[in-house]
Amino acid sequence: MYTRFWIFPLLFFPIQLGLSKRNYDINISKLDCRILQPNYISLLECEIIRKRIPVVSSRFILKEDIDKFNINATFYLIKKDNSRMSVAEFKMDGCRYLSSMYNNIMGRLFTRFKAVSNLPTSCPVPKGKLFEIRNYTFLADEFPPGVPQAKWQVRTKLLTSSGPVVELLIDGSVVYNT
Ligand SMILES: *[C@@H]1O[C@H](CO)[C@@H](O)[C@H](O)[C@H]1NC(C)=O
Ligand SMILES: *[C@@H]1O[C@H](CO)[C@@H](O)[C@H](O)[C@H]1NC(C)=O
Ligand SMILES: *[C@@H]1O[C@H](CO)[C@@H](O)[C@H](O)[C@H]1NC(C)=O
Repeated sequence: MYTRFWIFPLLFFPIQLGLSKRNYDINISKLDCRILQPNYISLLECEIIRKRIPVVSSRFILKEDIDKFNINATFYLIKKDNSRMSVAEFKMDGCRYLSSMYNNIMGRLFTRFKAVSNLPTSCPVPKGKLFEIRNYTFLADEFPPGVPQAKWQVRTKLLTSSGPVVELLIDGSVVYNT
């Protein structure tokens, strides 16, 4: 049914950028960060500052250097009866993702993202340092056109060789302006 999947950029996926003004807003209703292995992470916080035209903040400090990690993100559409349908799954090398995010020409979205964050640009990701995303705004203009009006959920796990370390959960919706 949805043949052109769009990808939500939290933590933080490259997307095709359109230039025209979108006639929809994004609404994030829930943002949840969970530490799955406390021996790796001493602080992890995620906060929605504003839901519609969402503004989010996040911060974390590691307890151990991380040399290597993987990202596993699953994108679900929430159907009318509240059941979930998995529509896409992404698995990436986290270290490569960090460096590509900072190095390539991803356009406005990443320029804005870099301006409000100090995420590491390569591995190892050092312990003891506070990494932050401060009041990052999701602008619908930077998402592809024709996104279905729907509720969705993205579950992202960050995994090291010893298994999942962090889980991020985002519930949101696309709201067309009438
Ligand atoms: C955002 O979505 C939630 C859940 O669907 C809804 O209850 C809320 O009214 C929406 N908020 C805005 C500002 O659109
Ligand atoms: C990725 O996440 C999905 C959904 O949580 C899960 O079914 C799948 O097994 C995971 N894959 C890996 C390699 O962890
Ligand atoms: C983020 O936004 C909130 C609410 O508008 C504001 O109180 C806070 O100072 C902002 N923080 C930063 C780092 O800009």
